[in-house]
Amino acid sequence: MVPKFLFSASFVLFFLLHCPPALAQSPAAAPAPPGPINVTKVLEKGGQFSVFIRLLKATQEDVTLNGQLNNTNNAITIFAPSDSAFSSLKSGTLNSLSDQEKAELVQFHIIPQFLSSSLFQTVSNPLTTQAGSGGRLELNVTTTGNSVNITTGLTNTSVSGTIYTDNQLAVYQVDKVLLPLDIFTPKPPTPAPAPEKPKKRSKAAASPESPADTSGAVSFTVLNNVVFFGVCMVAAIYSL
Ligand SMILES: *[C@@H]1O[C@H](CO)[C@@H](O)[C@H](O)[C@H]1NC(C)=O
Ligand SMILES: *[C@@H]1O[C@H](CO)[C@@H](O)[C@H](O)[C@H]1NC(C)=O
Ligand SMILES: *[C@@H]1O[C@H](CO)[C@@H](O)[C@H](O)[C@H]1NC(C)=O
Ligand SMILES: *[C@@H]1O[C@H](CO)[C@@H](O)[C@H](O)[C@H]1NC(C)=O
Ligand SMILES: *[C@@H]1O[C@H](CO)[C@@H](O)[C@H](O)[C@H]1NC(C)=O
Repeated sequence: MVPKFLFSASFVLFFLLHCPPALAQSPAAAPAPPGPINVTKVLEKGGQFSVFIRLLKATQEDVTLNGQLNNTNNAITIFAPSDSAFSSLKSGTLNSLSDQEKAELVQFHIIPQFLSSSLFQTVSNPLTTQAGSGGRLELNVTTTGNSVNITTGLTNTSVSGTIYTDNQLAVYQVDKVLLPLDIFTPKPPTPAPAPEKPKKRSKAAASPESPADTSGAVSFTVLNNVVFFGVCMVAAIYSL
């Protein structure tokens, strides 16, 4: 408790000592347009998000976010897990994820709307995240007093600090990684992946003369469309 406070205090002191000159200088040095916000830079300034930054880069979500923020019509809220949040995960958790799951995990921490702290009180649950919505991607936010609690069905935590906020982007620190049910609970059985073979055949069916290719459902549809297209062509020619 105490060391953490001291750390925060010294950080604030560092910030106070070093930042005003930098802030005062930059408008003079760069009268050019300030450019869009850079999420990576915001997190780097926060000082304790190196794992999350690494994940953002690895999944190219940083590029996506910066692109979205370049359009002032887009607003974004990020629940950024601190490095200690990642280090308290069961070891090997991140390494066990596929690239797609890593992207989903990152996107699950990003809400495509601007949530100021007062909006937390009126937000309607569950929130939609960049990873999507629905029962397996549930993210609920509730407030009690000054605390903003977050639950995913697997993770309970609360917002532990505000890293950045303007009217377009809000970045809050969380000290637990928000685990979506979708990645960390067994998937419900999915129907057998049938479309593999017909897909290959439909390529061959590009030449409509080969009658052997009519066997697959997909290629049959393709053939039908070719016939339909042909009929339209004929109709178009006659209507001229
Ligand atoms: C954002 O900031 C990071 C680190 O400060 C930098 O590597 C990256 O090139 C910047 N991206 C853009 C789009 O400016
Ligand atoms: C932001 O958008 C403008 C206009 O669409 C574009 O010219 C500019 O290159 C973009 N900047 C970045 C950093 O993506
Ligand atoms: C929010 O979390 C705090 C502890 O972090 C807990 O005491 C409180 O009951 C929680 N509130 C709700 C509504 O879940
Ligand atoms: C989230 O909120 C919705 C609506 O209030 C509720 O149905 C759902 O059970 C909640 N999920 C979790 C994980 O708390
Ligand atoms: C999260 O909190 C809810 C009620 O506040 C509780 O029922 C649930 O067991 C908690 N889940 C975890 C993983 O701590």
